[in-house]
Amino acid sequence: GCLCVLTVSHGFNVGTSGAKIFSQLAAEQFGYSVQQFKNSQGKWLLVGSPWKGYPQNRKGEIYKCEINSPGSSCQSLNLQSNISNGNNINMSLGLTLTPTTKNDGFMTCGPLWAQLCGSLYFYPGVCAEVSPQFTLQSAFSPAVQTCGSLMDIAIVLDGSNSIYPWEPIVNFLKKMLENLDIGPQSTQVTVMQYAVDTSFEFKLNAYQTKESMINASSNIQQKQGLETNTFKAIDFARKNAFLASNGGRPGATKVMVVVTDGESHDANLRNTVIPACDSQNITRFGIAVLGYYIRNDIDTSKLIAEIKSIASKPTEKYFFNVSEEATLIEIVGTLGDRIFNIEGLTGDNFKMEMSQVGFSAHQTRNKDVILLGAAGAYNWIGTVVHQNAQKSDVLPKAAFEKVLDDRNHSSLLGYSVTSVSDGSSEFFVAGAPRAVHRGQVIVYSMNSQNQPVIIDSQRGDQIGSYFGSVLCPVDVNADGVTDLLLVGAPMYMSEEKSETGRVYLFTITKGILSNQGFLEGSQKNARFGTAITAVPDLNMDSFSDVVVGAPLEGNGHGAIYIYYGDKKTIRKQSSQVEPNFTESSTHIKYISKLGKDTDSDLGRTFF
Ligand SMILES: *[C@@H]1O[C@H](CO)[C@@H](O)[C@H](O)[C@H]1NC(C)=O
Ligand SMILES: *[C@@H]1O[C@H](CO)[C@@H](O)[C@H](O)[C@H]1NC(C)=O
Ligand SMILES: *[C@@H]1O[C@H](CO)[C@@H](O)[C@H](O)[C@H]1NC(C)=O
Ligand SMILES: *[C@@H]1O[C@H](CO)[C@@H](O)[C@H](O)[C@H]1NC(C)=O
Ligand SMILES: *[C@@H]1O[C@H](CO)[C@@H](O)[C@H](O)[C@H]1NC(C)=O
Ligand SMILES: *[C@@H]1O[C@H](CO)[C@@H](O)[C@H](O)[C@H]1NC(C)=O
Repeated sequence: GCLCVLTVSHGFNVGTSGAKIFSQLAAEQFGYSVQQFKNSQGKWLLVGSPWKGYPQNRKGEIYKCEINSPGSSCQSLNLQSNISNGNNINMSLGLTLTPTTKNDGFMTCGPLWAQLCGSLYFYPGVCAEVSPQFTLQSAFSPAVQTCGSLMDIAIVLDGSNSIYPWEPIVNFLKKMLENLDIGPQSTQVTVMQYAVDTSFEFKLNAYQTKESMINASSNIQQKQGLETNTFKAIDFARKNAFLASNGGRPGATKVMVVVTDGESHDANLRNTVIPACDSQNITRFGIAVLGYYIRNDIDTSKLIAEIKSIASKPTEKYFFNVSEEATLIEIVGTLGDRIFNIEGLTGDNFKMEMSQVGFSAHQTRNKDVILLGAAGAYNWIGTVVHQNAQKSDVLPKAAFEKVLDDRNHSSLLGYSVTSVSDGSSEFFVAGAPRAVHRGQVIVYSMNSQNQPVIIDSQRGDQIGSYFGSVLCPVDVNADGVTDLLLVGAPMYMSEEKSETGRVYLFTITKGILSNQGFLEGSQKNARFGTAITAVPDLNMDSFSDVVVGAPLEGNGHGAIYIYYGDKKTIRKQSSQVEPNFTESSTHIKYISKLGKDTDSDLGRTFF
């Protein structure tokens, strides 16, 4: 990617001949975000490169580029190595970049910072505050939580003579434990072994860490025995495994995993033991190892029926079947996922697990409060997090439910965030580019109880236009009152069915938006409006001006349009279009934020 810093020259035009050019790898999305920055050492251009590390990873990084030092190249701030908690492998740090006023530093986020729960990745996102001297001050993740709620799992292993060899059973156990989030605040595990009778290998409270539990599991020896008293074992586990005196936690979800390779010798107990488990809300997984039966040519149907009768309903979720001991290990991933499913933590039940906090970020006028967009919250309905030094307020689903009318979980509220001011009050604005397919912008404030109150909302007027994906407030005459809110709809289709793109103009009165028409690019498929920014007075008439990016203009070369401010608005005729100098900076924005936002599962991470 390449970025250019321009100088104002000859008359009222922005000169490109003396442009400073900073380059780094385009594949690492250098230039996706940019921010001018000043500290005691000088003037800088901060540049996000959210795929730095590609193709090995997409950790991302921020570069500092010195503006007044000709020929100097940009240097990495090396923030990524200091954000190591959780899973930073593809966190995409630098996707957002915003100045912070409290410490005169800035904030950058990696919305794809992940948390591994079992074998599932969640994406709560991470944000980092950086000091004016470019050191990481704090990294925080407002949406991170323990993996699922408290869960106590009893693993009941058949150790009778017919199990052979024993080693695969131990390997299965170890692999299964590796996939769980073991700890006193998350998942606890007890292991029991049975043949004729049943005994504990270790209890729920025996080990506090996964490593020590796995170590203990590798030392479990086969019990041996001529009988397979499966129902006595289940009953023993039901009565003893979850007792508080053995480490059971009140309120924890109770799960039992029964692994056996033969029909029981005590099937007569089935009709009392299984209903007793049900009344104690113990969710049961039944795993039939068919190895002994297959080796000895015994009909497996009775065994399968018995294990199915142990498993919770629906059977297809809780019953597993493997042809030999050695293949047990292959079901571990699925078993782990299904254990998480007990919590209902998939699909329609996501709250903040996929929220991608930091997908957008904005410093409000209230120095304390930073808005963080969380476009993946509540099944991709999205929300906004109000972050201050003391706490994070994740706005509840109910706050925007009515105004969004999101029946299909895809509004992506928080894709963009900003705030506007009428001189005394500040109003918050969030974009939801897929709300009811047309896109929406919502203006809200916080009442004295710190609850969000919807002030106004506007929908886009064309399906698929991505109205609201980009927001830009403009104070044209620099009096502290927001004169215009510009709203990008970069995929707005012109009559020739090409994505020309539009930017809508709204004036704001006490938070109420009033449509004042739109700006439009001139070329087909240009995606005009993908990036919008207000810039200080370029033509020296004392009004702020506006620059709009059209990243695909000219067969993907990209162009910017300059609009001059005029009293309390901007002129709708552009004063200048620069087609040649910015090859990829805005182009990248298209690739990363819009281009992969499809309905496929992968696209759900919309990056
Ligand atoms: C991280 O990103 C790289 C490069 O795109 C990809 O090959 C890899 O599979 C990703 N890893 C995870 C855990 O998502
Ligand atoms: C990262 O941490 C190391 C060790 O604490 C510190 O020396 C370095 O300055 C930090 N880097 C940044 C960019 O904060
Ligand atoms: C692993 O288990 C062995 C035997 O039970 C024990 O002596 C050792 O201390 C354990 N090591 C760790 C790191 O827990
Ligand atoms: C089992 O779950 C039901 C429904 O959630 C609940 O009403 C009941 O109290 C639970 N029973 C026990 C023993 O926890
Ligand atoms: C159990 O496994 C056998 C072979 O391994 C397979 O033929 C059979 O369909 C399986 N039964 C069920 C109910 O999954
Ligand atoms: C939700 O999606 C279904 C199927 O994709 C569609 O038929 C329906 O119109 C959508 N509803 C809304 C409110 O968008």
